[in-house]
Amino acid sequence: MTAKAKIIGSGFYVPPKILTNADLEKMVDTTDEWIMSRSGIKERHVCDDKTTTADLAEAAARLALKAANVNSDYLDLILVATTTPDSLFPSVGCILQNRLAVRRIPSFDISAACSGFNFALATAAAFVESGQYSNILVVGADTLTKYVDWTDRGTCVLFGDGAGAVVVSASNGDGDGILANYLGARGEGGKHLVMPLKNGFITMNGKEVFKFAVSALEESVTEVLKKANLKLEDMDLLIPHQANIRIINHVAKKLGLPKEKIFVNLDRYGNTSAASIPIAFNEAYNGGRIKKGDKVVLSGFGAGLTYGANVIKF
Ligand code: UT7
Repeated sequence: MTAKAKIIGSGFYVPPKILTNADLEKMVDTTDEWIMSRSGIKERHVCDDKTTTADLAEAAARLALKAANVNSDYLDLILVATTTPDSLFPSVGCILQNRLAVRRIPSFDISAACSGFNFALATAAAFVESGQYSNILVVGADTLTKYVDWTDRGTCVLFGDGAGAVVVSASNGDGDGILANYLGARGEGGKHLVMPLKNGFITMNGKEVFKFAVSALEESVTEVLKKANLKLEDMDLLIPHQANIRIINHVAKKLGLPKEKIFVNLDRYGNTSAASIPIAFNEAYNGGRIKKGDKVVLSGFGAGLTYGANVIKF
């Protein structure tokens, strides 16, 4: 029987500084009412100038290793989903490998913006299922607020910083673990959400990204369940990318999903890009929202344009 990849521990970290909608009212022409009604975001955590993506990734990774009750020498691969690396090279993955003082195991970054964690988790599962690696650290970490134009009210209210991590291990258990993934890209829409390499800020066509997000979320949830031979009713919890409550509500309505089956914490973190799903997963798991036997779908969408989902049985 092929081994499945199972999450054996997780952790997350956000920088302590909180930026509220009231703070933003003093920075740009906006209101708490507009931000809440258009996005559902109330506050977000932001880095100071000295804190790097690797710092956040390291803090989350150490907590995940602790929760999994393993040392870093247990790992044989590190994958970091990020689009805000601290340098073009070395990768955040290599910085992390050095800081965690593990053996000379491979480590690399995966660039798929807000979908990055799902791409990395699917990659980890494929390595486990092929038998090549058995114990993999998967991190989603981003510091998008370093790339935001703080005079552009259309984007600066949406993003926050953070990191989330899971330790994935091979399991020959009772069919639990990552059951299936569904990944996609619509490169033709890349122009709608762009961060240039030099001297620029994030630019976004909000309306186009919104339309894409609704269709990508619906498609990825439907298709990943199909690949796992599951029905929508079999899904116990959906953990969607935490970008905008209106995107989530649209999809809930289209799929006929009750609110209790969807985890939302974007009001407190904003859109933390590749960190959003592992942070939400941590809070859902630690908050008792995921029980033994539950089938949980993680589904993300973002720049690229990219989208992807994993379905996990606990
Ligand atoms: O991971 C993927 C990341 N991106 C996303 O998920 C973004 C997806 N898109 C969205 O979430 C929404 O499009 C936004 C929240 C960004 C914007 O909501 P919208 O309902 O599409 O608003 P809009 O861009 O059409 O703007 C409506 C009005 C405009 O004013 P006029 O032209 O009607 O006078 C904007 O200038 O709201 C104005 N506006 C604001 N007003 C107050 C835009 N940003 C703000 C703001 N405060 N922060």
